[in-house]
Amino acid sequence: MDGNGRWAKERMLPRVVGHRRGTTALKKVINACIQKGVKVVSLYAFSSENWKRPESERTALFNMIKEFVAKDVPNKFIKPVVIKVMGDISPLPQDVIDALKETVEKTKNNGNMVVNIGINYGGRDEIVKAVNDVIASGKKEITVDDIEQNLYTAELPPLDLVVRTSGEIRLSNFMLWQCAYSEFIFLDKYWPDMNKKDLDEILKIYTGRDRRFGGIGK
Ligand code: FPP
Repeated sequence: MDGNGRWAKERMLPRVVGHRRGTTALKKVINACIQKGVKVVSLYAFSSENWKRPESERTALFNMIKEFVAKDVPNKFIKPVVIKVMGDISPLPQDVIDALKETVEKTKNNGNMVVNIGINYGGRDEIVKAVNDVIASGKKEITVDDIEQNLYTAELPPLDLVVRTSGEIRLSNFMLWQCAYSEFIFLDKYWPDMNKKDLDEILKIYTGRDRRFGGIGK
């Protein structure tokens, strides 16, 4: 969800206004995903590198995440969603941790779409943690399956598509293991400008891709 800061800067607004508009766009995109039958959406809401941002911006982001799970998740979606969290949330403010844990618990039996929120998430940390968990279980030789079963995404299906907004063409430590065979779409738009039409376009591009997974295709 990149480009919130630049969206705000272009309008001479504080960066946090960009994040707020980003949250509005997020709700639109999630509802559009539910309508389209998308099963899982993973979001990069706060990376392990985002601690470098000023405290005021971090606090605003954490409060937006709290408001999102406590108020928007029960009220703003056309169908109930399952909320999952990937990342180490232990350094977050206690009220945000409590809100996240409560929502994960409350929504776990909801049908429909999974919204998997990356918070204090880093792809490399995730792989290291998975390997250490496998070692701790006593295994001496590690398989691909061992690692997959110890990632935050162990219960989720394979990652089909990565979308990054704002014109940046890099992964920035997002789901490094999971994207081994994903498709990628990089958009020039800033995240706050995203809407249902953009999702339609993204899905059209994605369905037109020929995914061969190392084979020779159809
Ligand atoms: C990247 O844009 C965006 C973020 C680091 C935060 C994304 C967070 C939200 C959209 C809102 C809160 C999240 C939820 C789940 C409710 P940037 O700030 O790096 O933009 P820039 O590159 O233009 O400065």
